[in-house]
Amino acid sequence: MAIQLGDIAPDFEAQTTEGPIRFHDWIGSGWAVLFSHPADYTPVCTTELGTVAKIKSEFDRRGVKVIALSVDGLESHKGWISDINDTQKTTVNYPIIADTDRRVSNLYGMIHPNANDTLTVRSVFVIGPDKKVKLTLTYPASTGRNFDEILRVIDSLQLTANHQVATPANWKDGEECVIVPAVSDADAKAKFPKGWKALRPYLRLTPQPNK
Ligand code: BEZ
Repeated sequence: MAIQLGDIAPDFEAQTTEGPIRFHDWIGSGWAVLFSHPADYTPVCTTELGTVAKIKSEFDRRGVKVIALSVDGLESHKGWISDINDTQKTTVNYPIIADTDRRVSNLYGMIHPNANDTLTVRSVFVIGPDKKVKLTLTYPASTGRNFDEILRVIDSLQLTANHQVATPANWKDGEECVIVPAVSDADAKAKFPKGWKALRPYLRLTPQPNK
C-alpha cells in the first residue's frame, strides 16, 4: 500500500554520496525531505538538484535536512555532481542515495510501473521530527518541481506543529493564518494575544503567530 500521511517513514540503510546512512539516525531529531529523481545525467534533474543546492540554507534555517535519491550508482552520482556544480553554478551540499537495487524506491512507492517500470518518478516526502510523513508529492519525469512551494508547505507544517494554526489557500509567509477548529475561543484568547477575526465561528483569521 502507498505511504500515507501520518505513517512512520520507513527506515532503511543506504549508500549515499556522503557515506552510508541509516535513514532515521541520519534524520536525527529534526525534519527531513526525501526526494527522488528519475535518472542521473538528465536535464530536468540537473536543474532540480542545482536548485536545491542553491536554497539549502533555507532548509537549514527551518531545521530540515534534505536527501535526494535515484536508482543510479555512486560513481554515476559523483560524476554527475560535477556537471550539476558546473552547469548550475553551485555546489551540491547534501547527500544523494544510490538505490541501485531499488530497495528504497520500492519501500516508498517511488516507481510507478505504468509511467516507467524501472526509473523513479519525482516523489517528495516531508518527514517530521516524530518520523511521521507530513507531505507526499508526485510529479512526472517531465516536470521539474517547485522547491519554493516545498519550503512554503514546510513553513505551514511548522506553524501547525508549533502554534496550532493552519494556512489558507495560496498563503505566503507573513500572511494571516487560520486558527484550527480544535482550539476553542476560550483557549484562543490565551494562545493568540493579537486576537482574531471570526468570519464564521469556524473561520477565524489571526496574524501569523511567529511574526
Ligand atoms: C529529466 O530529468 O530531464 C528527465 C528525466 C527522465 C525523463 C524525462 C526527463
